[in-house]
Amino acid sequence: MKRIRIAIDGLSASGKSTLAQGLAKSLNYLYIDSGAMYRAVTLFALREKWIDRNGELHVDALVAALDRIFLTFRFNPASGRGEICLNGRNVEKEIRTHEVSKHVSVISKVSEVRNKLVRAQQRMADGGGVVMDGRDIGTVVLPDSEVKFFMTASIDARSRRRHTELQKRGRDTSFEEVRDNLEDRDRIDSTRDHSPLQQAEDAVVIDNSDLSIEQQFEHMMAIIQDTLNG
Ligand code: DC
Repeated sequence: MKRIRIAIDGLSASGKSTLAQGLAKSLNYLYIDSGAMYRAVTLFALREKWIDRNGELHVDALVAALDRIFLTFRFNPASGRGEICLNGRNVEKEIRTHEVSKHVSVISKVSEVRNKLVRAQQRMADGGGVVMDGRDIGTVVLPDSEVKFFMTASIDARSRRRHTELQKRGRDTSFEEVRDNLEDRDRIDSTRDHSPLQQAEDAVVIDNSDLSIEQQFEHMMAIIQDTLNG
């Protein structure tokens, strides 16, 4: 059976990672969370204090330090997935904070950051057998991937999901704060000059505002099976 590359792009909190992980597990493929890589670079910049109180990034300092940032994924049997390591230390929890979410779009606008991460993502997908999710996977990172999905949902559905997720993790963030952050990120991610969030022409669009995870999974799996059998 051939091992293909599956690209899943979409808006923040559109359910990409849940589906991508489920598909990867069921196909016995590697799951690569490209957003985790942008988040890890953001964490690095925050630790170095290169993002000031107004959210301004000290771009030159970050670009000069890119060679000191090593990102890897290490499989955690407890969570059943690869978790992101920044310079050898697992930072999977630290990159999910509201603080990182607030500043990640500024980091992902920097073309030197994107070039470095895109190259790393392409290397990871060499040889196939991967499900990768992000914003530019079907358009820039893996334009030749065999299956492409573009996931979307209403802002309310996405805010509700992300808010519940944060609450489960014990975070005290209001619904409005979550929605404002998602709207901000949608705007910045979709309008930046370098690789904006865009639907690939050949992507299958999944609007999951009113679909259960099981319904989405079945629909996506049927499309993948068609490609595998075709
Ligand atoms: O998928 P996520 O919400 O964890 O991604 C975090 C941020 O990283 C998101 O606001 C945009 C950026 N990102 C990107 O620019 N390109 C990708 N391929 C993945 C994420």
